[in-house]
Amino acid sequence: MTDVSELMTKQLIVALSKGRILDETLPLLADAGIEPAEDLGKSRKLLFDTNLPNVKLVVIRATDVPTYVQLGAADLGVAGKDVLLEHGAEGLYEPLDLEIAGCKLMTAGVKGAEPAQARRRVATKFVNVARRYYAEQGIQAEVIKLYGAMELAPLMNLADEIVDIVDTGNTLRANGMEPRELIASISTRLVVNKAAMTMKHEHLKPLIERLRAAVAKRRDHHALAAR
Ligand code: ATP
Ligand code: PRP
Repeated sequence: MTDVSELMTKQLIVALSKGRILDETLPLLADAGIEPAEDLGKSRKLLFDTNLPNVKLVVIRATDVPTYVQLGAADLGVAGKDVLLEHGAEGLYEPLDLEIAGCKLMTAGVKGAEPAQARRRVATKFVNVARRYYAEQGIQAEVIKLYGAMELAPLMNLADEIVDIVDTGNTLRANGMEPRELIASISTRLVVNKAAMTMKHEHLKPLIERLRAAVAKRRDHHALAAR
């Protein structure tokens, strides 16, 4: 494989989602030959140099990643599929599933309660996903935007149902709720600005391929460990 550093003559900006996705992204980047020049966790900085002179990292809120990449402020981004679905992600290529931070986007309600048949009140931070989902199901829904602690909404009779991320299901159980329908299986994706994919193709391609190899290596490692 070509040495990625030889090909990096044009600047590439990679937008990373901070939080739990970042912890799983950094080992993949390292495996693909990209290492931040300093410890991301120990700095208040937002823009970081890397070991490759033409690759820089920005560490931003997950929900801002598609916007940075769509508008070309970053060439590449790393974001959860949930965030991409909610954003719409027009003008973005999604060449690679990084297979990290897996979870599910689901509807959930109070344990044992029948879903409301008439207009259903749905609390979520994924308002676009929820509107689309209930419309597709032919269910009339009043979508209520919340910014966190969705599981509280049915308990406080603010909503009949929620649309939220479910991983272990512990948060739902702890609040007397249960998962209902699966909306989408979620993992973290690599996204690329469409114009950059054309203009910087010879620089982006080896980077994407190195990340693809890093994902495959991690998958093999996990498969071996599971035996
Ligand atoms: P922000 O601080 O921008 O609101 P956040 O608190 O939602 O973001 P994190 O919880 O660090 O950010 O990461 C959220 C992303 O991680 C989700 O978009 C999803 O793709 C993924 N994810 C994986 N497992 C979970 C989980 N159990 N809960 C929430 N998100 C998860
Ligand atoms: C997330 C998500 C759920 C919970 C799901 O919240 O919003 O509440 O985790 O995980 P579980 O099924 O394993 O319990 P988080 O703790 O990240 O806080 P948030 O509300 O800020 O997203």
